[in-house]
Amino acid sequence: MAGDRRFHWEYQEEPVERQAFRVTGGRPLRGRVRISGSKNAALKMLAAATLTSEPCRLTNVPEIEDVRAMAEVLRDLGAEVAHPAPNTYEVTAANVEWLFVPLEAAAKMRASFILLGPLLTRFGRVIISNPGGDRIGRRPVNLHVDAMRAMGANIEYRNGYYFARSEGRLRGTELAFPTVTVMGTENAVLAAVLAEGHTIIRPAAREPEVDDLIAMLQKMGAQVARTSPDVIEVEGRGRLHGAEHDVISDRIEAGTFVVAGAITGGDVTIEAAPCDFLGSFLDVVAEVGVAVACGRDTIEVRGTAPGAAQLRAHDVVTAPYPGLATDLQPPTAVLLTQATGTSAVHETIFEDRLEWLGELRKLGAEVEMVDEHCAAITGPSHLRGAEVEMGDLRAGASLILGALVAEGESVIHGAHHVRRGYEDIERKFLDLGAQIEHISEGLGTATR
Ligand code: UD1
Repeated sequence: MAGDRRFHWEYQEEPVERQAFRVTGGRPLRGRVRISGSKNAALKMLAAATLTSEPCRLTNVPEIEDVRAMAEVLRDLGAEVAHPAPNTYEVTAANVEWLFVPLEAAAKMRASFILLGPLLTRFGRVIISNPGGDRIGRRPVNLHVDAMRAMGANIEYRNGYYFARSEGRLRGTELAFPTVTVMGTENAVLAAVLAEGHTIIRPAAREPEVDDLIAMLQKMGAQVARTSPDVIEVEGRGRLHGAEHDVISDRIEAGTFVVAGAITGGDVTIEAAPCDFLGSFLDVVAEVGVAVACGRDTIEVRGTAPGAAQLRAHDVVTAPYPGLATDLQPPTAVLLTQATGTSAVHETIFEDRLEWLGELRKLGAEVEMVDEHCAAITGPSHLRGAEVEMGDLRAGASLILGALVAEGESVIHGAHHVRRGYEDIERKFLDLGAQIEHISEGLGTATR
């Protein structure tokens, strides 16, 4: 079968400038920090802009590598992408000539696969690479592909690429996902808004970023709504028009700063915090004993001095929204290293997403793997500076958190992972009084 043959296309990973963070821990963080726009919302909205030939203007877009990569992919397709001011992007997909999303794009950013739905539904065909992305286990896309097939697309997989076509418009249908999938839901919604007829998606992911995407699509003239908590219904339209949309704040970034304030004995006010979307996480933080107060869009965190033994162990389980986000598992694990007693951390969404705890252990955390989905963390640990390596975005930010509370100096390699998804993380920590600097380590590959 063609799909089994090794593909000898000359793809070479582009070298990136490798950087490390040098962090000297032990300082309480104090002050105010403003949360940027949501990565996981902004990337899908940039893709949604390809559904129309009219301009779409997005504000509060985070200045991060994944957004830059998505903008480049859109430009390669033939779309005009303007960046008239920081955090503002304008996309006009009037002259899309290439219906091809290459391996280079997918290797940089798994979210490039979100272009499957919009390009297929508007243009009737696309060739799109099987995505790579974070090293947090197998990241299949079978559910996205099955959804498009159920809507009438013909999709073949050859040489690492999906060749997708539809004869005429895609057809609305009833989609039943066997498991909750965020991007699978979003790809289905993006395809359904220009399909013929009615689509029902069940169970639809309930993440707030999905609803923010729906809000943008409604402004574009799409007939789409969440009709019950886990059902989204779409009545396809013949065409959509341009729109303006302000991206919601990044709840994962907000959670990261909550932990930063909590464990360093600091006093941090988090602005533009999407408190309403952090319920399960803030419940955990409160159970652990951190003093947090939520205003309309601020969170105030008063931490306890490291080693003060005021925090309590608490068992946590990641789950689809509204449960504890898997993306907040790493910061939560760092928080638990400072709590008295043994906490179980159960990861249910991605396999291998606990592997990073091996690096946290190098900082002195007491971590025992119960099995591949569950770790026991015993605290409070006196963390000590060490040399560690980021394996992915969220683990990377959490190693910075560990280093902020550790005694002495840490060097955290693989800083580019964090730059993929956190805007200006170094400056934000510096402004709060952290001792952090980046050091260049020469050229290397992005995936290391
Ligand atoms: C999105 C987020 C990511 C977050 C995750 C879970 C983006 C860009 N990324 O990823 O930050 O950690 O949601 O909240 O929005 N699955 C399949 N087949 C598929 C698709 C998914 O088996 O075709 C499985 C996955 O392996 C995983 C589970 O479904 O076990 C949930 O993954 P999914 O919700 O799809 O995650 P993403 O949308 O990729």
